[in-house]
This record gives sequence, structure tokens and C-alpha cells, in this order.
Amino acid sequence: MTIPLLDLSAQHQPIQAEIMAAIEQVLSSQAFILGPEVTKLEERVAAYSQARAGIGVSSGTDALLVALMALDIGPGHEVITSPYSFFATAGAIVRVGARPVFVDIEPETFNIDPVKIERAIRPNTKAIIPVHLYGQCAEMAPIMALAKQRGLHVIEDAAQAIGADYADGRRAGSVGTVGCFSFFPSKNLGAMGDAGMVVTNDLDLAERIRVLRVHGSKPKYYHKLIGGNFRLDSVQAAVLNVKLNYLDEWTRRRQENAERYRTLFQQAGLTDKPGVVLPEARYRRAGVKHHHIYNQFVIRAPRRDELMAHLKQQGIGSEIYYPVPFHLQECFRPLGYKEGDFPESERAAKETLALPIYPELTPEQQQQVVQTIQRFYSS
Ligand SMILES: Cc1ncc(COP(=O)(O)O)c(C=O)c1O
Repeated sequence: MTIPLLDLSAQHQPIQAEIMAAIEQVLSSQAFILGPEVTKLEERVAAYSQARAGIGVSSGTDALLVALMALDIGPGHEVITSPYSFFATAGAIVRVGARPVFVDIEPETFNIDPVKIERAIRPNTKAIIPVHLYGQCAEMAPIMALAKQRGLHVIEDAAQAIGADYADGRRAGSVGTVGCFSFFPSKNLGAMGDAGMVVTNDLDLAERIRVLRVHGSKPKYYHKLIGGNFRLDSVQAAVLNVKLNYLDEWTRRRQENAERYRTLFQQAGLTDKPGVVLPEARYRRAGVKHHHIYNQFVIRAPRRDELMAHLKQQGIGSEIYYPVPFHLQECFRPLGYKEGDFPESERAAKETLALPIYPELTPEQQQQVVQTIQRFYSS
């Protein structure tokens, strides 16, 4: 039995008729760009994220880009983020002409280490972008306190974390100045193509983002601002409006799968030192419901690359998120960082491996994954 890292067909099969009906409705409405489906999705995602406004955009990358543009961040400015994330986080900063300044991650959560942020702040620092990596919120309380004290914006890269609750019960995306979501198909709420959203509690900022989304045009063909084409398609919004109804149930199943992995790994003796390290769900102990939404279940594994090859050979999908931290990427060489600058990010890049965690994964499949890992380490 092969087990992919993610099986979207298992998710789509039971809701296919509903999705096709929603797409057909868009076809008959002939409203293909923005329109009522996008407005509906914006209102629903904003409410789901406990934010006052949502602005549907073309991708998670464009959500970050337009948020930075709306906050007037550009040449001469610095933006603090973690060097261990998907490329878009740092790429967006450079694309607006600003300079990314990296701060290492906490080893337990893979999120930016709040304790290390303060010493990276300089007079031209404008914002912090904490990434809620793999579906768990970064430590927002100290980040927000520091941002307030130093007059910085906070842009939450919540691309992987829609619906994740922070320790105080607030939702990913609604804690900072703005929150950015991706609806890339592999996300917990995934479209059938590219899509994203910005959420915020600042209604003036929301309006500015809405204008920037259409080339800065308001009224039509009159431009006070230079924006871009960051529009969201109606078909994607219609699909997402169907799928959003199931998101809480999918999250519940992902959490159930994560707990099952914890039991199975422990029973197999795989977590005995120096063994596999399972992902920490920090706010679980505090009873936070969506403490981790497990967009990915990422372990640290001794002899990681060999294990990955073994899993592949046995028909089990896994992935390395992410093999090269930003400060060691060739395109960021001009920033002047070197190997050793961010030891925790470098160690994570060498040790981590994502395992299948999707909602439809069965207990038998999880058992097979763990048994295959057990066989690898006992051989
Ligand atoms: C942490 C993070 N930031 C940003 C993005 C960019 O999102 P998109 O692929 O929708 O442009 C992603 C998604 O891949 C991501 O995982």
C-alpha cells in the first residue's frame, strides 16, 4: 500500500458534486474575477479568523507583497523575519525593495525566537513577519509587546495556519497589523489553483489593500497609488466557500492523526533518546482547541536523508521543508550572511522531515508509516 504525503483526491471525492455545482454557478453568473463569491469568502474568512476585514488576493505570496506595499515598506527599510520558511516570506520583502533581517528560530516550534528579535531592531526597521510554521502560531504576545514599544508593524505569515489559535484564544492572522493566508492546494484550506487572502482589523488599511489589489485604481482608471493585479478569481472563491464548511472537521482529524502518531511512535520506542523528536504543540497543554492545525507533521530524524530514501522505496511520501535556510540561499548572498549565523535554522534544515498527516489518512496507514520507520532504525 503506497501512502502519499498528501492525497487530495480522498478529500475531493465526497464533496465533488458540491464543488462542481459551485463552479457551474460561477459559469452561469459570468462573474469571473472578484464578484459575489469573493466578497462572501472575504467575509467568512475574516469572521473565521476573528478579523474585521478580509481582502481576497491571487496567492499567499501576493498577500505578503500587497501587505508590505500597503504599509509603505520599501527601499531603505528593514523587515525582521525567520530564515526558516517558504521562500515567499523573504522574497516579498526584497521585492518591495526592503532588506530582510533574519532572526533564528526556536528549536521546539520552528517559529521565530521572540527573545532574539530585539537585538535585530535598528532605526530603519519597519516590521516583523512572524511565520506560523506548519500550522502553529508563533509566540505573538512578546512580539506584539515589542512591536508596540518600538513602533513596528507585525505582518503575520499565516499561510500555513488558517484557523490556528494562539495561546490567548485569538486566531492566526488577527493578532498583528495584518495576516496573510495562502490557499495553495496543499494548505488545510486549499483552492484548485492559486489563491490567498489578507485579513486585518484596521479598516483603513483594508481599503488601501483593496485599492492596491486593482493597480491602485479608485475610482476606476484613476490612480493615487501604484498597485498590481492581485485579484482573486471567482471560481477559486466558490471552491473555497464550499471547502470552508469542512475546515473544522479536517482540522479535528489532522489533530487526531497527530495524537495517534504520538502514541504509535512512543509505543514503537522511536522517541527514546537519541531517537525521533516529535513536533511540539505548545498551546495544547493550555487547553487551546486549535493549538496546532498540522498543515505539516514535522519530525526531527537521525540520518534524515537515509530515512527519507527508505520511506520512498517503501512507497511512503515525505518531504523536507525546508532544505536551505534563507541566509544560505544564493540569491540572498548580497545580504552578507554566512553559515553558522543561524544554527537552529541550519540544524532544522538538516534534521526535519514531514510525514503524511492529511485528514483522510487511516490508522492503518499511520501504523504502516511508523512500522516502516521502526524497521529503518532497527536495521
Ligand atoms: C509560510 C508560507 N508563506 C508564504 C507562502 C506563499 O503562498 P502561495 O504559495 O499561495 O503564494 C506559503 C505557501 O506556499 C507558505 O507556506
